[in-house]
Amino acid sequence: MKQAQIQLSIDDLPSKWYNIIPDLPGGLPSPKEPGDGESRLQALGRRMIGECLKQEVSDARWIDIPEGVRELYIQAGRPRPLYRAYRLEQRLGLKKVRLYYKREDLSPTGSHKVNTALAQAYYAAKEGKTVLVTETGAGQWGTALAYAASLMGLSTVVFWVRAVYDWKLERRTLMEMYGAKVHASPSNQTSFGRKMLSGDANHPGSLGIAVSEGLEYVDGSADRVYCLGSVLNHVLIHQSIIGLEAIKQFEQVDDSPDLVVGCLGGGSNFGGIALPFIGEVLAGKRECEFLAAQSEAAPNLVKGEYRYDFGDTAGHTPLLMMYTLGHETVMHPIKSDGLRYHAAAPIISALRHSGHVRAVALPRDEVSVFTAAKMFLESEGWLIAGESAHAVRAAIDEAKAAEAKGEEKCILINISGHGFLDIAAYRDVLRLGS
Ligand SMILES: Cc1ncc(COP(=O)(O)O)c(C=O)c1O
Repeated sequence: MKQAQIQLSIDDLPSKWYNIIPDLPGGLPSPKEPGDGESRLQALGRRMIGECLKQEVSDARWIDIPEGVRELYIQAGRPRPLYRAYRLEQRLGLKKVRLYYKREDLSPTGSHKVNTALAQAYYAAKEGKTVLVTETGAGQWGTALAYAASLMGLSTVVFWVRAVYDWKLERRTLMEMYGAKVHASPSNQTSFGRKMLSGDANHPGSLGIAVSEGLEYVDGSADRVYCLGSVLNHVLIHQSIIGLEAIKQFEQVDDSPDLVVGCLGGGSNFGGIALPFIGEVLAGKRECEFLAAQSEAAPNLVKGEYRYDFGDTAGHTPLLMMYTLGHETVMHPIKSDGLRYHAAAPIISALRHSGHVRAVALPRDEVSVFTAAKMFLESEGWLIAGESAHAVRAAIDEAKAAEAKGEEKCILINISGHGFLDIAAYRDVLRLGS
């Protein structure tokens, strides 16, 4: 019997996260102060979770996952299965290429974001914080944090990019059901939001602006703490649980990927699946390539410059060495809005610079991307998020190219989220229904 599903037992849940920083060739460039105004590093120290900041600069290769976080991971359904895409392979007529996908879409709120949300909520509660403040683009991160906060008895304030807030009513309601207070960003809650609104009362917002608003809002009370859903080192460390599980699952079926594909906005799901494999490549234990699938709306790794830049629009963060389009760049809204961020995580940027990561930017109209997701739905049965559809499109293109050349290849795709709250995007992009 062909078994599409590769499970791990709960006893196989990893007990440590992987931190790639000590293994990076040439190390990771340190954050810098911009040289004007207050120290951004000190401000982060005040605004963020202490344990996360410690992990941000840790040079330990392995970081213990606290028992309380492991309990939360199990509650949230970890370990998550790996699937062999037999039916998609058949649909594509593949004879030489094997496709696998990791199921981060099976999380309670629908994405990989819960992996760091649960850790951050756990640490925040231990540090006596009661209000978690954040930004969100697609809405997946805001929902994940609201869920994690709810489980830990905390509350959440979310600044949500207005262009998406306006059309994702169901996701907004879900966040509110978890107890979150959700503001469309730019908002009138902060001076930066008011400044943006005075320039354009219908400003569509951006992740960079939402981060600026959240950081400013945290300063209003000592109970509040800022939680970031991507880009920073500690977020990628928490997400490494994805790749660590996948490595064990491939061992079970005695196979190994030649190519790992993930979509990339800021870099957290791509880092989560890829970094444990890249660590083994750097240690000379395996050969594998890595491909980040982006949107032409925000092709930070494809067209960005590798230089120091702010993580937010107002310049509240320290300067980070990243592939960036510029922190003030206006990016065209897309349906897969989680991919619309101006820069890629410093860790992923360093690995792109050292030639370990490739990147591709897919068309902004998203037709080819949602078409691939529909093919995935028809053959595998699962409805995936628009962001994840970018990874599926890129993987299908790679699979077809390898097959045409007669190359044998094993491709692993990360399915970062489900698309149950993105049906309107499918309808609009593919012009479905009446
Ligand atoms: C389902 C999903 N995938 C991917 C992303 C992109 O973020 P990251 O690059 O941090 O994984 C998002 C962001 O909101 C998302 O919701």
